[in-house]
Amino acid sequence: KEAKLWGGRFEEGVTDAVERFTESISFDKALYKHDIMGSRAHASMLANQGLISFSDRDTILEGLDQIEKRIVKGEFVWRTDREDVHMNIEAALTDLIGEPAKKLHTARSRNDQVSTDFRLWCRDAIDTIVARIKHLQVALVSLAKKNSGVIVPGYTHLQRAQPVLLQHHLLAYVEMLERDAGRLQDCRVRLNFCPLGACALAGTGLPIDRFMTSDALGFTAPMRNSMDAVSDRDFVLELLSANSITAMHLSRLGEEWVLWASEEFGFITPSDSVSTGSSIMPQKKNPDPMELVRGKSARVLGDLVTLQVLCKGLPLAYNRDLQEDKEPVFDSVKTIIGMLEVSAEFAQNITYNRDRIQKSLPAGHLDATTLADYLVHKGIPFRTSHDIVGRAVALCVYKNCELQDLSLEELRSINEVFDDGVYDYLGVQNSIKKFSSYGSTGSECVAAQLDFWISNLKLN
Ligand code: ARG
Repeated sequence: KEAKLWGGRFEEGVTDAVERFTESISFDKALYKHDIMGSRAHASMLANQGLISFSDRDTILEGLDQIEKRIVKGEFVWRTDREDVHMNIEAALTDLIGEPAKKLHTARSRNDQVSTDFRLWCRDAIDTIVARIKHLQVALVSLAKKNSGVIVPGYTHLQRAQPVLLQHHLLAYVEMLERDAGRLQDCRVRLNFCPLGACALAGTGLPIDRFMTSDALGFTAPMRNSMDAVSDRDFVLELLSANSITAMHLSRLGEEWVLWASEEFGFITPSDSVSTGSSIMPQKKNPDPMELVRGKSARVLGDLVTLQVLCKGLPLAYNRDLQEDKEPVFDSVKTIIGMLEVSAEFAQNITYNRDRIQKSLPAGHLDATTLADYLVHKGIPFRTSHDIVGRAVALCVYKNCELQDLSLEELRSINEVFDDGVYDYLGVQNSIKKFSSYGSTGSECVAAQLDFWISNLKLN
């Protein structure tokens, strides 16, 4: 058996079970690119500071290049007895170039190394997720563009409330996604500080230049406190919180599309390319992708909870528990990317069943609130208007008809104030025309929203 990099003070090696239990190479090899990036910056800094020679630096850099190529080609052998990605790469470098490799870990610990790697990895992950969010926004805006003028029932409590433009409904999700991207970008700003040089926890007496490595790795500045630098994972928690909120939004979208694809609603038909069948019921066509978007939001939230619980009892500074931070993050990022991708594909493959939607609109007295507003125009206090319209609705329920079917006589029997102009407020088509407040579902407001997104997402 090969001696451990940290083996000096030990008289015997670890048991197989301990080796298997403590390794992280099976998953943290995903950090290899960022680990090598960090080592390059660190080696260059060591040479600049006179801590290693320039020729050793060059040998190290060439060795790292070779190792990276081998990893990319799938030729690199990851060894469990070398524990994690940091020691695998360092030991392989030693195998490859000998003595100079032994100088690379000068003024560095795996504690600052892993925190650096992980920040770099999360930074890239954020950029990928934000791009996917934009992609989904584009798909939703395109779907809205294709469906101009379509009125759908708006719901509260899943009971019919007021008519809204379908475009308005879709753009609501685009707004949520914009904040989701914003949260990730905020998190990126806060995480972009460099732990490298914090060493194990206390910093070092060697003359390193932390500003140089920080710059080289694209960080804003080195972290001010070495103990904070190696021990906190709040940047991961922020990323996972942001993901869990995005996942919650996508889950709501998924739930709605599943509902709208049901026979009972029948508002949308997803194309075959985004549907799946049943192994027993030949007629079935199920919206599985969006059910799974809803379902997978559970693991994204679970990943956040895992990390919160992992961190909450840890004294300063580094604790090995922190090795458990990787898998939930990898899982959360991979899952959210898949969810965003599939939601965009679903959006690209939905047809709104305009006839069916249109036929359903008379039900539920969607124009009742507009009728109350009519009475307000007539000078009636709103609370009284509410009561008058409530009585008109009760009459409709009794007669099994719509508000617009009531005769002027019937309306006037409830209150004298009604005149012929009332019919201009009744029916879904009329009702929707009355909305005019900023942010409302009125057609001008919605057109302005759509224009905003078309230019914001550079769709024109
Ligand atoms: N594999 C470890 C992790 O992911 C690297 C840091 C180990 N540090 C240590 N002192 N054992 O956290």
